[in-house]
Amino acid sequence: MSTPQPPKRFAVFGNPIAHSKSPQIHTAFAAQRELSLRYERIEAPLDDFAGSVTAFFQHDGAGANVTVPFKEQAFSLCDVLTPRAQQAGAVNTLWQEGGRLFGDNTDGAGLVTDLCHNLGWPLAGRRILVLGAGGAVRGVLGPLLAAAPASLHVANRTRDKADQLAALFAGHGNITAGGLDDLQGEFDLIINATSASLAGAALTLPAMQVHRDSKCYDMMYGAEPTPFLRWAAQQGAATADGRGMLVEQAAEAFLIWHGWRPVTAAVIASFGK
Ligand code: ATR
Repeated sequence: MSTPQPPKRFAVFGNPIAHSKSPQIHTAFAAQRELSLRYERIEAPLDDFAGSVTAFFQHDGAGANVTVPFKEQAFSLCDVLTPRAQQAGAVNTLWQEGGRLFGDNTDGAGLVTDLCHNLGWPLAGRRILVLGAGGAVRGVLGPLLAAAPASLHVANRTRDKADQLAALFAGHGNITAGGLDDLQGEFDLIINATSASLAGAALTLPAMQVHRDSKCYDMMYGAEPTPFLRWAAQQGAATADGRGMLVEQAAEAFLIWHGWRPVTAAVIASFGK
């Protein structure tokens, strides 16, 4: 008789990490096929993310997710990067093969799946506005542009950072950049990727035109609508927060590690309950 294998070990690294929903999400996915796994939260020291990741993989770690503030460090640590991780400049999914550390970034794919598939908000031919120009934005611009929008405008409080991102992605589609204060025109989809929601700060938008069919998405999520989504609802726009993106980026990571894509709808629906 063969000895039963211990459950494979997975983890999410961040700091802080206590709030992370990744263990529940991956455990719910695994239950769909009675797969046995362990998925833990690891609060890596701010000054030793590399040591923490190395120790994890030396102690039977099979795969890991990475969240704030370590995604750029994870990128630097990898021996092999997928094209979308290279484009994102950040890594949120790690695994080992033949003793080498591999890194991918599933955030952008998760966002696009949530928008197009779950919410039914098409991107092709649409005018998209992205608010913010930090790491979270860089992580999703490639997949957004690959979905062939008519235009994608990046607006940021600090305009220089938006300009730099637009220059980086110039060959990938119709991308423009500007400040938050000089926004003009209408948009079909507005994505808030600033950390203003996290801070609870009201994102002060100029009196831009959101038409009746506009959609507004906040990559953050929480028990209450973010200030941005409250503003959007007041303008009559359809709104959604980032819980679907979170579950979809996890499903992409799950696919990489286990070779099959879990069903996400019930996991998204159960979120926050
Ligand atoms: P992340 O990795 O989450 O993107 P980040 O790289 O620190 O985090 O970027 C945070 C983004 O939120 C930036 O675009 C920041 O604007 P600045 O570049 O001008 O700092 C934006 N941001 C944070 N607080 C904001 C606020 N109150 N209003 C508008 N933008 C804000």
